[in-house]
Amino acid sequence: MRLKGKTAVITGGANGIGAVAAELFGKQGAQVAIVDFNEQAGEAKAQQLRAEGLDVAFFKADVSDAENVKEMATQVIAKFGKVDILINNAGITKDAMTLKMDVANFKQVLDVNLTGVFNCTQAFLPTLLAQGKGKVINTSSITGTGGNVGQVNYAASKAGVIGMTKTWAKEFGGKGINVNAVAPGFIETDMISTIPEKILGQLKQLTPYPRFGTPQDIANAYLFLASDESDFVNGTVLEVDGGMLT
Ligand code: CAA
Ligand code: NAI
Repeated sequence: MRLKGKTAVITGGANGIGAVAAELFGKQGAQVAIVDFNEQAGEAKAQQLRAEGLDVAFFKADVSDAENVKEMATQVIAKFGKVDILINNAGITKDAMTLKMDVANFKQVLDVNLTGVFNCTQAFLPTLLAQGKGKVINTSSITGTGGNVGQVNYAASKAGVIGMTKTWAKEFGGKGINVNAVAPGFIETDMISTIPEKILGQLKQLTPYPRFGTPQDIANAYLFLASDESDFVNGTVLEVDGGMLT
């Protein structure tokens, strides 16, 4: 029960890493707000977790839409009364080689992966600051720290997330708010299903640890950064990639 009495907001919590994190956080005693633009999957996940006895509710929002996010934050605070942990986990890919990439695809990935993190953090920060304690965890990527062929939009967004993390750690660290990032390697979710088979094999060979990551690997890292055990950790980027970038 490492999160007993805490309230956590997890964006992109309907699927993949976010959904596993929602379950883990619920089992660790947190009240969990799953935020996602996929209403059907989000409602289904929240219902499933409530059936397991966990305190989980679903809130629909597109993180790239600032007004939508503000309304969602008001609803979350009205339901739970407070927020202690914000996990900016929602993200998308629109991969293409640079010369073939449509500028609309470039912007869309930035809107969700970068502006979305800004929107959600800005919406919940006043509550975190008023409490004098809080944790913000942003999801970067191995692509944000090392780049990746076919992902210039995504790499820019995930590198930008690191810049925001370090800035907020400096702006808010003295006010009791820890802001950190997790940089996952390749994790077995729907997101990697677009990678061609041949490239997938090459990527696996680049990982010293002999497997891809699981959503649980990343949820465990989120848990550490959300818990009181990490109170002196601020502005860090925790690489959870099986040693791929070393
Ligand atoms: N590493 C090395 N070379 C790569 C590569 C990679 N990751 N991806 C593509 N290439 C190479 C191809 O082998 C190919 O080389 P040749 O021209 O010598 O044959 C060249 O780049 C062009 O590739 P394609 O022929 O596949 O070009 P395409 O236009 O049909 O497709 C693509 C381009 C959409 C980028 C496709 O290659 C692709 O999907 N690549 C994988 C991209 C990827 O790794 N995405 C990660 C998604 S998961 C995620 O993003 C989570 C996270 O945070 C890590
Ligand atoms: P996923 O595709 O399984 O889940 C992403 C979730 O985000 C989905 O439920 C989706 O509906 C939601 N979402 C997407 N856009 C949204 C928006 N605009 N507003 C609200 N919700 C939105 O992906 P996965 O793998 O669980 O990814 C989670 C995070 O981890 C993402 O930020 C991703 O970039 C990052 N990541 C994933 C890696 C992987 O290999 N799977 C590796 C490194 C980072």
